[in-house]
Amino acid sequence: MASIPQGNLIRPNRKTNGAGVQAEDTKICVVMVGLPARGKSLIAQKVVRYLHWLSITAQTFNVGQYRRQATPNPTAAFFDTSNPDGEKLRRAAAEAAVDDMCKWFREGKGLIAILDATNSTKSRRRWIKERCDAEGIEALYVESKCDDEDLIMANILEVKTTSPDYVGQDPEEAAQDFRNRIRNYEKIYETIDEDEADLTYVKLIDVGKHVIINQIKDYLQSRVVYYLMNLHIKPRSIWLSRHGESEYNLAGKLGGDADISSRGQEYARLLPTLVKQSAGEGRKLTVWTSTLKRTIQTARFLPFEKLEWKALDELDSGVCDGLTYAQVEERYPEDFAARDEDKYNYRYLGGESYRDVVIRLEPIIMELERSENILIVTHQAILRCIYAYFMNVPQERSPWMEVPLHTLIQLTPKAYSTQETRYPANIPAVSTFREKGSKAKHQDSPACTPGADGGERANPMNGA
Ligand code: ATP
Ligand code: F6P
Repeated sequence: MASIPQGNLIRPNRKTNGAGVQAEDTKICVVMVGLPARGKSLIAQKVVRYLHWLSITAQTFNVGQYRRQATPNPTAAFFDTSNPDGEKLRRAAAEAAVDDMCKWFREGKGLIAILDATNSTKSRRRWIKERCDAEGIEALYVESKCDDEDLIMANILEVKTTSPDYVGQDPEEAAQDFRNRIRNYEKIYETIDEDEADLTYVKLIDVGKHVIINQIKDYLQSRVVYYLMNLHIKPRSIWLSRHGESEYNLAGKLGGDADISSRGQEYARLLPTLVKQSAGEGRKLTVWTSTLKRTIQTARFLPFEKLEWKALDELDSGVCDGLTYAQVEERYPEDFAARDEDKYNYRYLGGESYRDVVIRLEPIIMELERSENILIVTHQAILRCIYAYFMNVPQERSPWMEVPLHTLIQLTPKAYSTQETRYPANIPAVSTFREKGSKAKHQDSPACTPGADGGERANPMNGA
């Protein structure tokens, strides 16, 4: 009986950051810079989510959270630099955050920290640089600069009036106080300029319309910067759908390039109506499919521009392609067990792991960040990985998520969270979900899975 050697499991070793990047010695502190309500916390949160998705450990140190321990509900006067008590407490909060961050690096807890504060003066930024230099940490400054008053007011109303700083307060008064807080910061704010030419920095001006980059040094830094350059905040949605039920799904077989079944064709015919129901009339969107027949057949009635991506093809199950789970268990029992043990890292012989898939999907994520309304018709494993990126699902859980056939999922990015709505087509299909240990051809769907309930997610970052 053939069996796949255990050495074929890919696991990150000490010399890589998990995404295959040689990064043992690289420690980066991303230092956010900008007046309040410029999207710094939102950018920090997105970078951390992106890095976690790539298996790069990252953590945000939010100075506002440290400040709140001593001063939970400050008024704008607290942020006036002529207020010595406020100055002292704010300095102490910044020092506590930097101390914790240095300790975090020293204990080997991660590679990238984000120091989320206004860091609005040259002297504050110089002090951070000195602390980082002393610890062998590279400082990468990210300034968000925006003087569009209407946008800033919209930001205040969207996220600041519900901040813990204003808990229980009237939203109009909170918005007014927050504007006064900004005025206090404006008195001392210094944008990054030629005096700081020795710093590594990226300036994002007017939500990335204009970008200035200085002294970017290594691969990880350039990767973060490239990601930042692709971000936008225009309202949009991303729709995800698996292909319609295929002949292989009916037979319980893995992989292949089968046609869709007659029920799959029914789903393909209904999909334009589901999309209209979700997106509304006249919304312009682009459809991305894989290069496999079942996604192309499913998308064929959609009246939109279509693009085929090889990177969206299903996880390659190598020697197990075309087998059922029962046949895999019979022919490769050790591998069947190893996959259950660590499904994210397990790589099929001659095929891929979920970890491999994430790496090949990175350009898709970049392109999605740059784009507006996109509908992706793809496969179970691929959809899980894309969904995990947007919904921040941990790696160990993502390969076990149930993503039913004949269901359209709409994801709408909001400040600090992604809203999810599911549109079931009510066209029967087999379940291709397999729980740990099972080798059933078709299993009943589990009652409760992450995201299956739809609705907006919690807002973990509000209050930064
Ligand atoms: P504070 O200093 O008070 O913590 P902040 O700069 O961290 O403020 P966020 O809390 O992140 O600001 O603000 C989020 C809001 O900023 C959202 O409404 C988001 O749409 C918007 N936003 C995101 N990116 C940018 C950007 N580059 N420029 C301006 N606004 C942005
Ligand atoms: O004003 C926004 C804020 O996030 C406060 O909550 C926090 O105290 C401050 O910025 C931190 O930045 P700094 O003290 O460095 O200006």
